[in-house]
Amino acid sequence: MFPQIRLRRLRSHPRLRDLVRETTLSPDDFILPLFVRYGQNTRIPISSMPGHAQLTVDQLAAEVREIDSLGIPAVILFGIPAHKDACGSSAWDDQGVVQQAIRTIKEATPNLLVITDLCFCEFTDHGHCGVLLEDRGRIDVANDPTLVNLVKQAVSHARAGADMIAPSGMMDGMIQALRRGLDEAGFSSIPIMSYAAKYASGFYGPFREAAESTPKFGDRRTYQMDPANGAEALREVALDLAEGADLLMVKPALSYLDIIRRVKAAHPDVPLAAYNVSGEFAMVKAAAANGWIDEQRVALEILTSIRRAGADMILTYFAKDACRWLG
Ligand code: PBG
Repeated sequence: MFPQIRLRRLRSHPRLRDLVRETTLSPDDFILPLFVRYGQNTRIPISSMPGHAQLTVDQLAAEVREIDSLGIPAVILFGIPAHKDACGSSAWDDQGVVQQAIRTIKEATPNLLVITDLCFCEFTDHGHCGVLLEDRGRIDVANDPTLVNLVKQAVSHARAGADMIAPSGMMDGMIQALRRGLDEAGFSSIPIMSYAAKYASGFYGPFREAAESTPKFGDRRTYQMDPANGAEALREVALDLAEGADLLMVKPALSYLDIIRRVKAAHPDVPLAAYNVSGEFAMVKAAAANGWIDEQRVALEILTSIRRAGADMILTYFAKDACRWLG
């Protein structure tokens, strides 16, 4: 055959490879999760997530200045409160640990976006993501009573200065309830990033240590999605958009690249985030610590693959390292 098609021609020079690269990775793509703990002057390393720690509020200013200086646009906050109860009431305490953290971060680095995770598993004494009630002989998270509390939590975060809220509890109708609640409280300009397709995943293991949010009984399969389902994610996403979500998220990322691809194809005009979760991070760290893989190379390859699949932004524990690696 003439002319002979040779795809290797475009791979022959590093600058040529730069020119034809389809997927880019930059600090602008990253959102870094932070764990904020009650108490003072404490940094508790998270053993399953090397390099990450639970920080008390007084430790935050230095941390966020570094994050800001690396060019990372946003952090997402998770709280570990002093007090847990059946409904997670410290989640909507204006003096709560997340609310204090928001104020501290906005003061130290006004330009760094503060996103807050909205959920109750870190705040309830049973570790489930909402209020428990009996339904037909089974104890389960009650959907609508949880929505009422979610609105209280969101408004409290907004009052403290949060730039965006990210509900992660997988309750039905949560986006509509939050949009209405925020608007009524005068926060109509605050966007909602919905954890729209969040799966009941084993990859959250290290996070549960980090956030002290392991359920005391049962699991989250009655509210988070079945890993076997793909089409259902499109229904979740479509509903959240109809309810007013501004950004969408797929979580976890790595075993769900097909979901990222399908969501992006169905809604190419909606910004899409993917959560490169704790277990995905820990696996790379563990293998690298054993000398089995090259951490930098594998982490950047994973992040690139998540972008290639269709994510516009990535929540990742690699954010700081990746910024350094990308130079
Ligand atoms: C729930 C929440 C979880 C994660 C983020 N938000 C845990 C869960 O649903 O059990 C997991 C994040 C990670 O593993 O990095 N508030």
